Amino acid sequence: MIGASGPAARIGEPALRIDGPAKVSGAARYPADEPFAHAAYAVLVTSAIARGRILSIDLAQARGLEGVLDILTHENVGGEAKPPPPPGGHGEATTTLESDRIWHDGQIIAVVVAESLEAAEEAARRVRVAYASEAPSAGFDSPGAQIQLVKEAEPSHEDVRVGDPEGAFQTAPVKVEARYSTPIQHHNPMELFATTCAWEDARLTVLEPTQYVHGLRAALAMQLGLDPAKIRVVSKFVGGAFGSKGAPSSRTAWIAIAARRLRRPVKLVARRDQGFTIATHRAETRHHVKLAASRDGRLLAVVHEGQEVTSRPTPYNVSGNKTTAMLYGSPNIATKVEIVRADRNTPGFMRAPPETPYMFALESAMDELALALAIDPVQLRKLNDAAIEPVKRRPYTSRNLVACLERAAETFGWARRDPAPGSMRDGDWLIGWGCAAAAYPANIGAATARLRLSADGAARIELAAIDIGTGSYTILAQVAADRLGLPIDKIQVDIGDSDLPAAGLAAGSNHAAAISNVVARACETARMRIAAAATAPGTPFSGTDPAKLALRDGTLVGPDGRREPLGEALSRVSGGVLEIFQENNPAGAPSDGVRKVEHGQMAMARGSDLEDRAAYGFGAQFVEVRVHRRTAEIRVPRAVGAFAAGAILNPLTARSQLMGGMIWGISAALFEATEIDRRTARYVNTNLADYLTPVNADVGAVEVILVPETDRLCNPLGVKGVGELGIVGMNAAVANAVAHATGRRIRDLPIRIEQLL
Ligand code: MOS
Repeated sequence: MIGASGPAARIGEPALRIDGPAKVSGAARYPADEPFAHAAYAVLVTSAIARGRILSIDLAQARGLEGVLDILTHENVGGEAKPPPPPGGHGEATTTLESDRIWHDGQIIAVVVAESLEAAEEAARRVRVAYASEAPSAGFDSPGAQIQLVKEAEPSHEDVRVGDPEGAFQTAPVKVEARYSTPIQHHNPMELFATTCAWEDARLTVLEPTQYVHGLRAALAMQLGLDPAKIRVVSKFVGGAFGSKGAPSSRTAWIAIAARRLRRPVKLVARRDQGFTIATHRAETRHHVKLAASRDGRLLAVVHEGQEVTSRPTPYNVSGNKTTAMLYGSPNIATKVEIVRADRNTPGFMRAPPETPYMFALESAMDELALALAIDPVQLRKLNDAAIEPVKRRPYTSRNLVACLERAAETFGWARRDPAPGSMRDGDWLIGWGCAAAAYPANIGAATARLRLSADGAARIELAAIDIGTGSYTILAQVAADRLGLPIDKIQVDIGDSDLPAAGLAAGSNHAAAISNVVARACETARMRIAAAATAPGTPFSGTDPAKLALRDGTLVGPDGRREPLGEALSRVSGGVLEIFQENNPAGAPSDGVRKVEHGQMAMARGSDLEDRAAYGFGAQFVEVRVHRRTAEIRVPRAVGAFAAGAILNPLTARSQLMGGMIWGISAALFEATEIDRRTARYVNTNLADYLTPVNADVGAVEVILVPETDRLCNPLGVKGVGELGIVGMNAAVANAVAHATGRRIRDLPIRIEQLL
């Protein structure tokens, strides 16, 4: 449980993180930090081939080592767990130990448990595996990879078709057509993938960094055939996730089974290289984009076809042309998505999973179209701003893309740009200025929360929210302080535990909206209860309209300014302690959303899928690159992003998220790629030395502008969420800046020196 010390902070004010002191002092315990008496240590053995069968596993040498307690393989425990639900919810997942079958490189094939980590590591090295290896398909263009339309694999998938896109493209006076690609990327959160399981009687406690404690609980209950009430999942702090800790993975059930067999707690911290294959990643994508326009720059056709690599058993895909199809007001639109099934681990959510790769393609193509039209790229986007969403013709709850473009352009100094590629120089450095638009749906999930308010003016908020570094602890305290009229240091926040009221998944940029709205409602319920009791006959505010009573400065305040201390008002309701259990099922979510979220399922109103309206946050990103004339070294001295994302609960944490997204975008555009050996379908650079990410010196000034926006239609607090919006346009903004600097259009990420030489 976390509480603040420090100044008051209401909704919209820049409150410091209330979990900050615990984190910087080391008091915050991440799941693997939690000490357990008598714990045993697990180490994973993973497959050295990508496709085939295990002929035999020789455990003799491993078992003979002192301290080795148990070794789990498909031969002794394979039937004891069902597969977890697949990411994305479609197809099948594998338990990885269910049989001798190898689906992908680095698949878990054994779990070694020992008295010490060192003994487990040594024993894992002594496990001898004989394989019957088959030639694997690594991905695109690999023999044996199976290409399939997404709509064949996922009946709910819709490709878009509006008007006559082919006809319009044929006859249009100005057009561009190009192919783009993005590479495999891995999240690499600083905190490794870890699981500790402990049984007490028949009750299982799981400590694991996860973005959804009820989701993990439900998956494990299903996998192990247990009553969910017998499982507790605890995840108080998460050291980075970005989607990689969103869907249940196959490791947790095996650690639970290991702990059950040994009757003692078992702790696993998977190695960094294993994180590349036992968790998810962003799959490589390919895009074919066709844009057509009139001579004055009005879009006449948008065609966006995508291809994504996925695994054999699971058709996971992101289909981001759902967003690119509705970004601009074109009368003719078509999209199509294919998956390419290969012998690979199943991909999964990674920051703005659909938008990041697909907007790279669209927003690069828009830049190419601007050049073909000789129209300024900002002007082209403004010309084609969609008044209503063009696919299903729904109004936006609010749309301030143009304001974002204008604010960011002004701050960046865009008016000083010479549009001719290669025209701006500083000595040996070619200077490029590029921009792109960003959009991300405003999602909100069902949630529940408990609020305890006591006579001394202290409040406690309890809900199974998750803070993946985003600021959940802090915004919850702010909302409660604001709505209860209490200083923020009177609010205690307890989250990250499936024994608390369910609060959904911290992903899809929905969580801030979900948890702030349910807590605001709980506070309002509390205020109404207190006000009703205070206005009954014979009470101080008798005869006053209860709706007119406010909670402020630790008192109940009447419309005439009369005050009564909160403690006295509370004693009338409940003898000093008021406890509220609040449910919130947002408009547009499934009608049984609250039950769903309690059962660990998805229950979200998605801004892209609402019947009568479209709810999106928007942004615009501007980037300066400098490319050395001789060496083609690429630097990014500055980036400016402006974002309109509804109500900002806390500008400090929101800015951090948007800035982090922008930096990741620079990283994705210029650095990151997981390399695969195409013969063996194995990842090669599974470490932080060879998987490139930027350091401080690689990222110059990053400025975030929060464009004021009031949206009363997306949800009562008007919160759109900012977890993902910040990354969305960055890949294209960087690529467009490189094209402006050099005259060279790089359509395949990451952009590296060798492509420019
Ligand atoms: Mo995120 S990729 O929605 O965890």
